[in-house]
Amino acid sequence: MTLRITDLGKRYAETPVFEHVTLEVADGEFVAIVGESGVGKSTLLNCMAGLDSWDAGRVVHDGTDIGMLDADARALWRRRHVGFVFQAFHVLPHLDVAQNVALPLMLLGRNDPPRVAGMLDAVGLAGLGPRLPQQLSGGQLQRVAIARALIHAPALLLADEPTGNLDPGTAARVMDVLLSQTRAQGASLVLVTHSETAAARADRVLHLSAEGIRV
Ligand SMILES: Nc1ncnc2c1ncn2[C@@H]1O[C@H](COP(=O)(O)OP(=O)(O)OP(=O)(O)O)[C@@H](O)[C@H]1O
Ligand SMILES: [Mg+2]
Repeated sequence: MTLRITDLGKRYAETPVFEHVTLEVADGEFVAIVGESGVGKSTLLNCMAGLDSWDAGRVVHDGTDIGMLDADARALWRRRHVGFVFQAFHVLPHLDVAQNVALPLMLLGRNDPPRVAGMLDAVGLAGLGPRLPQQLSGGQLQRVAIARALIHAPALLLADEPTGNLDPGTAARVMDVLLSQTRAQGASLVLVTHSETAAARADRVLHLSAEGIRV
C-alpha cells in the first residue's frame, strides 16, 4: 500500500506537537521514524492508522483519504488494511495465544485455524497456541503481537517501539521475525524506534522534530 502524508499538523490546544509533516511510504517499503522523546512519533503513527485526529493536512492510503471517513468506516478500513504492534505488547490476558492471534481474522468474520498455526510457526511459537499470555516471556509475547498484527495479511504494518521492552539479543530476534514476515507478505512497514540497530535495517530513516520530518 502506498501511504501519502501531506503537510500534517497536530496540536493539543495551542501547543503544536508537529507541523508540516510530509512523507510517502511505497508499496512494500520499510521506513523507520526516529526522533527525541515527546516529538510526536507515536502520535504520528496513530494518525497513520486513523486512531488519532489531526488539525491540518491529509493522510491518504492507496487513494483512500482517511480524514474523509467517519469513525465506523475508519475502523472497518483499519481492520482490513492495517496491523499494529505496540511497545507494551497489548496481548489480551484472558485469551490464549492462538485466540489472540486469531482475533483480527475473527473481526473480519474469518475462521482459519491452519493459518493461525502456520503464523505461530513462522514467528517461532509453534505448539504454544493453548498457553495463556502470563505463561510467556516478553520476547514471546511480542512475537504473539507480531503474529496478530500480520495474521490478516494487512498491506501496512505500523510498529511503535516493538523492541523497546526487550534485551538486545531478544530485540534482534524479534526484529528478524518482524522483518521476515513483513517482507514475506509484501507489506509496507513503518517502524518507530529509539534503536539505531533497528533503524539501520530500514530502507529509509526519517527524523521527526517539531519543525517537520526530514531524511
Ligand atoms: N492528551 C494529550 N494532551 C496534551 N498533550 C499530549 C497528549 N498526548 C500526548 N501529548 C503530548 O504530545 C507530544 C507527543 O507525544 P508522543 O507520545 O507522540 O511522543 P513520542 O515521540 O512517541 O515520545 P516517546 O519517544 O517518549 O514515545 C508529547 O509532548 C506529549 O506530551
Ligand atoms: Mg512514543
